[in-house]
Amino acid sequence: MKRVPKIVLALLIQGLALLILAAVVKGASYWVTPPYPLWALAVAQGVLAAFLSCRLGLPCWWRLIQFGLPVGLYFGLHFQINPWWALLIFVVLWMIFFNAIKERVPLYLTNSTTRQALKKLIKRRQQVRFLDLGCGLGGNVVFMSQLVNVERADGVETAPIPYLVSKFFTLLRGGQVFAMDIWKTQLGYYDVVYAFLSPDPMPKLWQKVIAEMHPDAIFVSNSFAVPEVEPSEIWELDDRRKTKLYLYRMQDFQAKMG
Ligand SMILES: C[S@@+](CC[C@H](N)C(=O)[O-])C[C@H]1O[C@@H](n2cnc3c(N)ncnc32)[C@H](O)[C@@H]1O
Repeated sequence: MKRVPKIVLALLIQGLALLILAAVVKGASYWVTPPYPLWALAVAQGVLAAFLSCRLGLPCWWRLIQFGLPVGLYFGLHFQINPWWALLIFVVLWMIFFNAIKERVPLYLTNSTTRQALKKLIKRRQQVRFLDLGCGLGGNVVFMSQLVNVERADGVETAPIPYLVSKFFTLLRGGQVFAMDIWKTQLGYYDVVYAFLSPDPMPKLWQKVIAEMHPDAIFVSNSFAVPEVEPSEIWELDDRRKTKLYLYRMQDFQAKMG
């Protein structure tokens, strides 16, 4: 089941729930004379699909989506809500969470405790060139651009709405943001490369980091360690989520790089 894309699995589960519901309705018709209220059937479909989802391999939070889909469809049809609204909401969400589908990296933001830790990390360095891989709304880029020992703070972002927001934000407050895929960046130019992504891209990203970053540079990953690579240091921060910063000082990997 793991190889089936989640969206396909979700639809298959809705189909299975519909079959079960049809069988139950058929059986129930011997005792309770149909028709049954449509809203009750939509809710039953949602409950069944939500119940099956977690058990059949979807992440448990998908239960909300699985419940909301038939119930939302029912309400949309019942109240004759213009379907363009659904399309509009879908397009806006897609433009924000673009990379959740493509790269399995959603949008969530670095907090101020983590930014202070980044400041501390570079405090003994001069003329730092900083890059945020997938810079979201641009907060880190702006923050770093305002530090006196930072020569350049850049970010790259491909999700359209975060890109536009970060572009605007950096134009006003400092730093630069590019509409560029993280895989097309030149990491060799930077002293500190920061990533807050997800477990998914980390192995491939590490290959890029090792191939491109210079020996004096640091790669920092917020929350997601590179699998099977011992970091140079791990900083556990004193925030609510106990953020872990995995620090990879390139000099520690030079010998292994050969
Ligand atoms: C978890 S958010 C982190 C945002 C920001 N770096 C921060 O720490 O506040 C990850 C961001 O990376 C972006 N992203 C994911 N894959 C990307 C890619 N291949 N190229 C550019 N941006 C990407 C996502 O759109 C998202 O905005």
